[in-house]
Amino acid sequence: MCRICAAVFQADNVAPLLHAGLKRLEYGGYDSAGIATLHGGKLYIKKDKGKIDEIHQALNLDDLPGSIGIAHTRWATHGAPSKVNAHPHTDCKGEIAVVHNGIIENFLELKQELENLRHVFISRTDTEVIPHLIEEYYKRTNNFREACFQALRRLQGTFAIAILSRYAKDMIVVARKGSPLLLGIGNGFNFAASDAIAFLDKTKTSIPLEDGDIAFLSSSSYEIYRIEDATPVKRKTITIDWDLQQASKEGYEHFMLKEIMEQPYTMRLSLGAQKQYVDLLAEFMEKSSKNFLVAAGTSYHSCVAASYLYSRLANLATIPVIASEFIEQYGNAIDVNTTILFVSQSGETYDVINAADFARKKACTVLGICNVIGSTLTRMVRAYVHQQSGPEIGVAATKTYTSQLIIHLLLSISLAKKRGKISQSEMDDIKETINELPSLAEQILISKQKEMLEVSKLIMNKNHVFFLARGMNYATALEGRLKLLEIAYIPSTAYPAGESKHGPISLIEEGVPVIFIAPNDETRKLLIGNIMEMKARKATIITLGEEGDSELMQLSDHYIAMPRMLPIITPILYIMPLQLLAYYTAVNKGLDPDKPRNLAKSVTVL
Ligand code: F6R
Repeated sequence: MCRICAAVFQADNVAPLLHAGLKRLEYGGYDSAGIATLHGGKLYIKKDKGKIDEIHQALNLDDLPGSIGIAHTRWATHGAPSKVNAHPHTDCKGEIAVVHNGIIENFLELKQELENLRHVFISRTDTEVIPHLIEEYYKRTNNFREACFQALRRLQGTFAIAILSRYAKDMIVVARKGSPLLLGIGNGFNFAASDAIAFLDKTKTSIPLEDGDIAFLSSSSYEIYRIEDATPVKRKTITIDWDLQQASKEGYEHFMLKEIMEQPYTMRLSLGAQKQYVDLLAEFMEKSSKNFLVAAGTSYHSCVAASYLYSRLANLATIPVIASEFIEQYGNAIDVNTTILFVSQSGETYDVINAADFARKKACTVLGICNVIGSTLTRMVRAYVHQQSGPEIGVAATKTYTSQLIIHLLLSISLAKKRGKISQSEMDDIKETINELPSLAEQILISKQKEMLEVSKLIMNKNHVFFLARGMNYATALEGRLKLLEIAYIPSTAYPAGESKHGPISLIEEGVPVIFIAPNDETRKLLIGNIMEMKARKATIITLGEEGDSELMQLSDHYIAMPRMLPIITPILYIMPLQLLAYYTAVNKGLDPDKPRNLAKSVTVL
């Protein structure tokens, strides 16, 4: 959840470039940051706790000398945010500096061993064992490369690391196991970073490292080896198809708002997803005797909505499962006849990767929907569909959710065709509807901004908000609730409305906001009953429903009128006012929606 960045140039001053790279990686962690450079055979380090801008203001990160350096933005796992726990960490003599993303599981044991050898530790981090281990092996071998190999072989757990040392003057050493790391290959320079966004302004040519790889980078060359036996390996070079403009705020106050507002555009891109891959996924799912949909967080909510879609359009049963529960819940029930569709925006979420690895070992067919080509997930699966949402910087997923829903919809249509479950006239209706998605999204976003700002005032000071729905919009309730609680810090509950009588109704009292997602479909009638129950307990009723629905309007304290649309696309469009609601509630409360406390964009640790 931390992010790392490293660069080696022929002559340029590297610190401002690393600083710029770190700023773009800040979404991955922001409780402390630091940079180390090497110049004239000496290491220079600046680091502290706080956001990068605060640290830069106090320390001026840009005036570190030298053309080679490593950098880190931290999200604490071991040891509280503090200057001493901030990366880079060094060995006893301050001659080896290391930045690290991941968790070293055997660090206590290694620390004890190194302390017995008189190494002195100053931080409470697991990372600090790495420079000391390298120092120890350097003492024994007098060969820096060999020392790196031997030290890395001792590490258990996950890591993406970059190492800088005066023992290797023109070289950076990087390595990965279980945490993302890509090389950025340039003319006269080389980069390595957790995310290509760090070096996109310099190069779009990238090499994603594989688990267990170590690479030695100079300004003019790179070499990749396996950590375990030092065999040289070649890795595929890819071209990144994003540019920095796509990853900038473009005049919006926050990335989250920019990303919400660009959904009509990203929807168009996702609708153009390559049909042959959609059909290929459908082919595997259709042949399989058991189908699971596995993901975390928002991506899991897309799977919840999708399970209704696959059933409704293609009569296919799929089981949505939270990635961190998958092995315990279904580990013994999967086999060669099982297909698992893993959905992950980043393609790096630890629990997703772990479950995919497990499923591969069980000979299941492992498929993916992912936003990052070259990510770990895309390299593990049999086939995947690229959701094409472009880079998402706001920590809260927005446009990537609606893109995932679109890919699921395309997949369910492909499945329905293969299984002969859909008539020509239904197909024509659906096609027409799908093509209308971007323009409907545009209409909703433009008309709802101000309204949701007003609705946010109704809920911003409440202690609890409820989201209730039935059918596939149960996923919309889950996702609306997640957005609100993660960025506006309002405790919220989402339930299938039919289940609300079985417990949650006990929390309803006068003025508690209950948000109903009630489109004009077969759930509407039953939802009216649920609204009456909540009304009888004096809840404040906020309803999203079809324009002109006077019955629902009368029952509601606030009615959010949505355009008419075919029920199967309601999860894609009804979530958008709720994204705006969460955004404005956070902003009204003076919170930064792009950087919610304790959260990182992708959770790459256990
Ligand atoms: C919530 C959010 C997270 C992610 C989750 C999975 O707004 O962004 O819940 O959805 O961490 O991430 P990916 O999709 O990258 O696997």
